[in-house]
Amino acid sequence: MDKQLLSKTAAAMVAKGKGILAADESSGTCETRFKSVGVECTEESRRTYRGLLFTTPGIEQFLSGVILFDETLRQKTSDGVPFADYLARKGILPGIKVDKGAHDLALAPGEKVTEGLDGLAQRLSEYFKLGARFAKWRAVITIGEGIPTHACLYANAHALARYSALCQQASIVPIIEPEVLLNGSHTIERCEEVTEATLRATYAALAAHNVAVEHVILKSSMVVSGKEASRQAGVDEVAERTLRVLKRTVPAAQPGVVFLSGGQSDVSATAHLNAMAATKGLPWPLTFSYSRALQNPALGTWKGQSGNVAAAQRAFHHRAQMNALASQGKWKHELEKQAA
Ligand code: 13P
Repeated sequence: MDKQLLSKTAAAMVAKGKGILAADESSGTCETRFKSVGVECTEESRRTYRGLLFTTPGIEQFLSGVILFDETLRQKTSDGVPFADYLARKGILPGIKVDKGAHDLALAPGEKVTEGLDGLAQRLSEYFKLGARFAKWRAVITIGEGIPTHACLYANAHALARYSALCQQASIVPIIEPEVLLNGSHTIERCEEVTEATLRATYAALAAHNVAVEHVILKSSMVVSGKEASRQAGVDEVAERTLRVLKRTVPAAQPGVVFLSGGQSDVSATAHLNAMAATKGLPWPLTFSYSRALQNPALGTWKGQSGNVAAAQRAFHHRAQMNALASQGKWKHELEKQAA
């Protein structure tokens, strides 16, 4: 375990004015996204699309890292440079999604546990050789009647802790992503309660497994109203409730917190981050680690056509720039209008 490298990597992941692109969609998720814009999902079309994102001119100003899928870590640019090397040369850290997805949790209807611990030590050592310097593991917590249960929170927290310990042992910084889903008609109060319970369980498990929080990055969902809730909380309320939960649960020793977008609209994800990052006196830097909220406009512009690549890259550049500003509390709605 190279603690110096872990510290250096963690600090670089949350460098001021930058954030992380999540481009680690599994082939199944990619298929759904590509279908929505009429593109056939093949190994080559996935390579072409990811290449479009990574080779966007100037994108390194806004990105500290990119989370890759196993397939992508083994793919190359059109000029034959492995994506991991290409990104590293641009000063962008390559990361790797290592979980094997959320599966039904036995005896717990409607709940999931993330699998992928078997053989993980070996996979991590290969990923390090391929250039990955950080990893991601996503746990999924669903809010519903009587759920999440204690069993679900603790099974997922335990897996996150075991994964984190294996990562640190391999000199790879773990991103822990316990995502409280926004699907459902629950209130924002309920989301706050569940997010707090989730994070409490997660950090208790990290401590029990001797994980150093100095070398962990939290990827959190925001505290928002359920998607189908009758009352939708505004930006300030989302920021206030999310920060309250984080301050209660996340150790100050942690190098930073990044957020997922979770199905929020592109501009909402930016506005929420901006409101939180503008808050003075927080113990950790905050930034983005979005997939959909960074990629949606680019994917919709590209549509699989080579003639659309430059326009798609401009769309991606714009969202990355808006979120980089938001991570410093410097974003304004007017900046969106100027670009339109
Ligand atoms: P979204 O920003 O689309 O929620 O994706 C983030 C992510 O990495 C999910 O694991």
